[in-house]
Amino acid sequence: MSTRTLIRGGLVVTAADEIHADVLVEDGRVAALAAHGTPAAESWTADRVIDATGRYVIPGGVDAHTHMELPFGGTFASDTFETGTRAAAWGGTTTIVDFAVQTVGRSLREGLDAWYAKADGNCAVDYAFHMILSDVDASSLKEMDHLVEEGVTSFKLFMAYPGVFYSDDGQILRAMQRSSANGGLIMMHAENGIAIDVLVEQALARGETDPRHHGEVRKVLLEAEATHRAIQLARVAGAPLYVVHVSAEEAVAELAAARDKGLPVFGETCPQYLFLSTDNLAEPDFEGAKYVCSTPLRPREHQAALWRGLRTNDLQVVSTDHCPFCFTGQKDLGRGDFSKIPNGLPGVENRMDLLHQAVVDGHISRRRWIEIACATPARMFGLYPKKGTIAPGSDADIVVYDPHATQTLSAATHHMNVDYSAYEGRTVTGRVETVLSRGETVIENRTYTGRAGHGVYTPRSTCQYLD
Ligand code: URP
Ligand code: ZN
Ligand code: ZN
Repeated sequence: MSTRTLIRGGLVVTAADEIHADVLVEDGRVAALAAHGTPAAESWTADRVIDATGRYVIPGGVDAHTHMELPFGGTFASDTFETGTRAAAWGGTTTIVDFAVQTVGRSLREGLDAWYAKADGNCAVDYAFHMILSDVDASSLKEMDHLVEEGVTSFKLFMAYPGVFYSDDGQILRAMQRSSANGGLIMMHAENGIAIDVLVEQALARGETDPRHHGEVRKVLLEAEATHRAIQLARVAGAPLYVVHVSAEEAVAELAAARDKGLPVFGETCPQYLFLSTDNLAEPDFEGAKYVCSTPLRPREHQAALWRGLRTNDLQVVSTDHCPFCFTGQKDLGRGDFSKIPNGLPGVENRMDLLHQAVVDGHISRRRWIEIACATPARMFGLYPKKGTIAPGSDADIVVYDPHATQTLSAATHHMNVDYSAYEGRTVTGRVETVLSRGETVIENRTYTGRAGHGVYTPRSTCQYLD
C-alpha cells in the first residue's frame, strides 16, 4: 500500500537552493516539491502531515568517515553499528560510510564480509563501506577490481601506523595505479608514520608520556610532507586522491596548490579540527586523552585555514572520523605512555549541529553547510542524488531542523556509546527535530522511533567528480 507524507511550510535547504516549499514523500522517495501555498502544493493529500513551519527541511547528513567497532590498539571502538547508527539518526545523519578493514595476511573479501556481518540487521540508518587496505600485494590489488564492481569504490591507505595499517610508497603507487584503472578512489591517511615513530620513541625516552605529547610528535610538517608525497604519487599513477582528516594549515596549502594545477585532489576535515585544539590535548589529569586522534588536534591558529579551505572549496567534505573509545577502560590504556592511547574521537551525533553552529557564527553559508555535510560526500562516494539532496526521485532521507533551538552537548544526553563528549558543555544553536530515513520516521519530535535493521546496505557507484 502506498504511503504519502507531506512536509509542509518549511524552508527547504539543499546545496543548490533555499526555497519555501512543501515536500511530498511517497513510498520512501521524494515525489515532488512545490512552492508553499501554491495550488499544486495545496492539492496534495497525504496520510501524514509534518508541520515544518519555522524549520529548515534539509537532506539527511552523509557521514563518509566512521569506524564502528574498529579494532585499534588492543581494543574496539565502543559504538556498534546499532548504537552508532542510532546516534547518527539523533544527529540528523541518515547515511554513514564506514571502513571495512583488511587484516594483514588476509584477503579484502574476508575483511569486507566481516563488516557486512557486523552491520547486517543492526543499523538504524543506511550504510555503505570503504575498504582499508593493510596488505597491498598482487592478490589484494586484483580484489580491488571486484570490490569496485560490488559497490565498494574507495580504498583507504595509511602512510602512518607502521606494522599495523601502514603501506610503503611502492604499495601506495601500485594501489593508485590500480584505482586509476578500475575507477576506485584512494583515500589517504597522510602522516609520515616512520618519522613519527622515531619521535614517539625519543619522547618516551625523555619521559614525555602525557597525552599532549601525542600532538607534539605528530608534527604539522609530517602531515604536510605526507600530503605532498601522496599528491605526487597520485600524479605519477594518474589517479585521483582524497585526503582524509586534514588538520594542518600546511596540508591545506598542499591540497590547494594541487587543485590550482587542476589535479583531481580532494580533502576532508572533521569537526574536531574546526572546534578543538591542542589546548584540549593539554588538559590535566590525563583528560587530554579524550582528544587523542590522528591526525592530531592542532594549535587553534590552524582553524582559520580549515574554515577558509571549506569556503574556497580547497576542502570539500566534513566527516566525523567517528571512532569512540571510552575514557574509562579504553583511553586509559595509555596512562603513562601516550602512544598506547587508542586513537579516535566520538562525533557522529554532533556533526550536523556543529556545522550549523558554523553557519550561525558566519564561517559558512547555509547552503555550504548542506554541501559539505550532505551533497558533496554523496557525490564524492557515488551516492548522489539518491542521498545528499531533496529532489524528486531521491530517497526521502529528510531532517526537519529547528534553527533557533539551543542545546548543550553532553555525555549525559548524547546517544553515542561512549562515556564522554568531546564537546562537553558547549551550547549550540540549532537542533534536529524529526528525521525520515527512506520515508520512515526514525526521530519524531525528538523521540527515537527507528529500529535496528531499518538501515540497509547501499552499494555505491564511483566518484561522481571524475565523470
Ligand atoms: O584517530 C583516528 N583518526 N582514528 C581512526 C583511524 C583513522 O586513522 O582514521
Ligand atoms: Zn586515518
Ligand atoms: Zn578514520
